Amino acid sequence: MILQERDARRHAEAVAAARVDELNKKQRLVQLLLAVSVAANEAYNVSDAFRATLRHVCDFTGWPIGHVYIASEDDPDLYKCSGIWLVRDYKRFHSFMELTKQTTYATGQGLPGLVAQKRAPVLPQDFKLEQQPRYEIGEQVGIKSALAVPVIADDRVVAVLEFFIGEIVHLDDSLDEVFATIGKQLGRTFERQCAEDRINGLNHMLEQRVNRLAALRDIDHAITTGVDLRTTLAVLTRHAQRRLGVNGARILAYDHRSGDLSTAAQAIERSCELPGPEARQFDDPALIAARSGVLVSLDDLEGLMDNESLKIMLDEHWIKSYFSAPMTASGQVIGIVEVWSVNDLKPDEDWIDYLQAIAGQAAIAMSNRGLLRDLERTNIELTVAYEATIEGWSRALDLRDKETEGHSRRVTEMSVQLAQELGLPHEQIVQIRRGALLHDIGKMGVPDHILLKPGALTEEETRIMRKHTQHAYDMLSPIDFLKPALEIPTYHHEKWDGTGYPYGLKGHDIPLAARIFAVVDVFDALSSDRPYRSGWPIERVIEHIRSLAGTHFDIRVLKAFLRMKGFDNDLDALEQLDKSLARAA
Ligand code: C2E
Ligand code: SIN
Ligand code: SIN
Ligand code: FE
Ligand code: FE
Repeated sequence: MILQERDARRHAEAVAAARVDELNKKQRLVQLLLAVSVAANEAYNVSDAFRATLRHVCDFTGWPIGHVYIASEDDPDLYKCSGIWLVRDYKRFHSFMELTKQTTYATGQGLPGLVAQKRAPVLPQDFKLEQQPRYEIGEQVGIKSALAVPVIADDRVVAVLEFFIGEIVHLDDSLDEVFATIGKQLGRTFERQCAEDRINGLNHMLEQRVNRLAALRDIDHAITTGVDLRTTLAVLTRHAQRRLGVNGARILAYDHRSGDLSTAAQAIERSCELPGPEARQFDDPALIAARSGVLVSLDDLEGLMDNESLKIMLDEHWIKSYFSAPMTASGQVIGIVEVWSVNDLKPDEDWIDYLQAIAGQAAIAMSNRGLLRDLERTNIELTVAYEATIEGWSRALDLRDKETEGHSRRVTEMSVQLAQELGLPHEQIVQIRRGALLHDIGKMGVPDHILLKPGALTEEETRIMRKHTQHAYDMLSPIDFLKPALEIPTYHHEKWDGTGYPYGLKGHDIPLAARIFAVVDVFDALSSDRPYRSGWPIERVIEHIRSLAGTHFDIRVLKAFLRMKGFDNDLDALEQLDKSLARAA
């Protein structure tokens, strides 16, 4: 009897202990997931997130090796060792690491390839290590089984984590899900990093462009304020040299009758000289550009250079890149801008555009004998460059906030259409187009955790979010060209009844462009998915914006919008509302 009782108690204790064990295990698993999740969110970059994850998993399991395979950029179906490792005993595993480093796997091949194909973790019991090319060395150093986890970003397997184990293990099937979650977590970090890289790349490009535009404006200023020609050309060559990142820039005057080139201005770094046209004893590339009227680069000259002395001279001065751009005025080539570098430049379109813009400015300066001064100097090159910059910014913003992708483009199209519907003049519509493209550019200054927050904003977050109109003003107002386009970015959250922000303007005090835009913005925002809610059906959107007539929106603008969208029933009601509001006021 007593014995039985003791057995029963022992049994109960064992059950309890097993349960505690189980609970501990679960708790530890939760801790692992949490640790990986925090690491993935806080990591400075993807490599750090991978490294921290390897460490957490190896700490958790006691396994000796973890490392990462990454899909190649050129061929997303090919997985290469990324050089990110966690190894507990480097000496022992050295030869295995060396072999792994050299092995790549296509989708379906080996353990990494299998995981990429399956798009789910492969547990040790589901895979035979003997199939691995690394098997023999693995066996020598005491590796007995492996686990692999896919990292999925943008619905694609972008990387595979591999862990190696010194014993034959059989993992609980439920761990499958835990590791899948870890892979997804890393995938999100990966996506975020890619978005950041894209934006940084774009911003760098835009920054360069803006610097170049600023330089062109200086030049413009020099020309229009009648600074003497010599100074203007000197400014031009200096700008060309700095903004194009070349060692030398020279402006040559071209005399049609004699066919001679002569130096008009130059800016050259020390010990990077290229003799001027007066001293050249060969088929001058600048002359080729002057005669043909097209841009000439060294690559274009390959076939033309029967004269060895050009090559010799370029070699002598270590010059690897050379460009000459013709300066045309009234259909005639009047000169050349030539630039050169000791580096092998790989110019992009922007660079070439800028070189040609400089040549255009030089042509205006040189032929500025009354005739060209009177020509409308809207300067096509300048305008084109500005428009490209605006669109680039606008795209960069939509990239950051994936949910709003296409928002800027759509609201721009609708605003232009609505402005036309309301009969606005062309000049104003041009500004509306620019303003609409840039309306939320100020969100660049709002941190990710607020902009991309999946839920409602707190009071403090709303306060920060509402600064986006001020940020926009600060970013854009220094650019003369954009001043007339500032109304939308600055005032698009003002409301007709004066309850909007940032200034609480009322009625007609709000610029018409902003009143037009407000309707379009809210219409498109409500129709689209946002991180904090999904898009509404169109009927509900229409009903909602209609309910804001006279409070948020200008009724006349709203009516035109509804007509444009084909929701023109019931406009009489708005008419009545408009009249009664007018009477009250
Ligand atoms: P947005 O998403 O482009 O929205 C532009 C405007 O459309 C909003 O200006 C608001 O007037 C209207 N709107 C958008 N979604 C809704 C909605 O679900 N309900 C209603 N009634 N109106 C809506 P607002 O409120 O000044 O917001 C400016 C920006 O602030 C928004 O641009 C968005 O980026 C951000 N934001 C606003 N509320 C939230 C939120 O609850 N969570 C997050 N994460 N962001 C928010
Ligand atoms: C780490 O990368 O976090 C540790 C590296 C190592 O243990 O080898
Ligand atoms: C994200 O996880 O996508 C955004 C989180 C952040 O960077 O604040
Ligand atoms: Fe906004
Ligand atoms: Fe918007």
